Amino acid sequence: FGSEALRGLKVVVSAGPTYEDIDPVRFIGNRSSGRMGFAVAEAAAQAGAAVTLVAGPVTLATPAGVAHRIDVRSAAEMHVAVLAAAAQADIYVGAAAVGDYRPSAVAPQKLKKHGGAGLTLELAENPDILASLSAQTVHPFLVGFAAETHDVASYAQDKLQRKGLDMIAANQVGDGLGFEAADNALNLYWAGGSVELPRASKTELAHQLVAQVAQRYKAVRQ
Ligand code: C5P
Repeated sequence: FGSEALRGLKVVVSAGPTYEDIDPVRFIGNRSSGRMGFAVAEAAAQAGAAVTLVAGPVTLATPAGVAHRIDVRSAAEMHVAVLAAAAQADIYVGAAAVGDYRPSAVAPQKLKKHGGAGLTLELAENPDILASLSAQTVHPFLVGFAAETHDVASYAQDKLQRKGLDMIAANQVGDGLGFEAADNALNLYWAGGSVELPRASKTELAHQLVAQVAQRYKAVRQ
C-alpha cells in the first residue's frame, strides 16, 4: 500500500451517528458505530494526509496519526464543524450517518406521560452537509457514503449526481454488513467509472477506499 498517496493533502472525515435531543434525557439517534469513518481517518493518516476527524457520539479511540479530532453531538453541530474544517481541506469524506431530522424544539424539561394519550413529535429537516459543501464555488473533493437496504447501485448513482459528489461509496446494510458490523463491502462510483470492493474488514476496505480516492483526486484535481 502506497503510504505516500495523500502526502501533503488535508483530509476531513466525518464519522458516527448524530444525536438529536428531544428533552434533557432523550434523543433520536441511529445505529452507526463510527467504525467505517474511523478506519478511513486512520487509513488517510497512514497515506500521509493531515487528517481532521469530526466525530459524532461514539466510544472509539482516536486512531493513530489523526492530527485533530472534533467531537460533536447533533447534525447542526457537525454541519458547523465540518464546514469550518473543510474550508482548508483538499478532500472531505462524509462517512457520518447524519440524522435527516431533529425535533423542532428541544423540551427544556423531561417530557411526562399524559394518561394514555399519544405524543406527536414535530421534526424539522437538518441541513445536508455534503450538499452544502458542493454548493460552494470552491470546495474539497467530496466523497459520500450511501447505506441502503435495497437498490444500492441506483440510489448511490442518483445521490452522486444530486449531491454533486466526486465519488460515492455504497454499501448494503444488513446480512452482517454495514451498521454495527466489523465487515463491510463497498461499491465505489464516480462520473464515468466504478469499482467493487468485496467483503472485507472495515480497516482493509478503508485502505482500498483511500487508494481509490487518491487516484481519482489526482485525476481531476492535479
Ligand atoms: O442521503 P443520505 O443520507 O443517504 O446520504 C448519505 C451521505 O450524505 C453520507 O455521506 C452522509 O454523511 C451525507 N449526509 C450529509 N448531511 C446530511 C445527511 C447525509 O452530509 N444531513
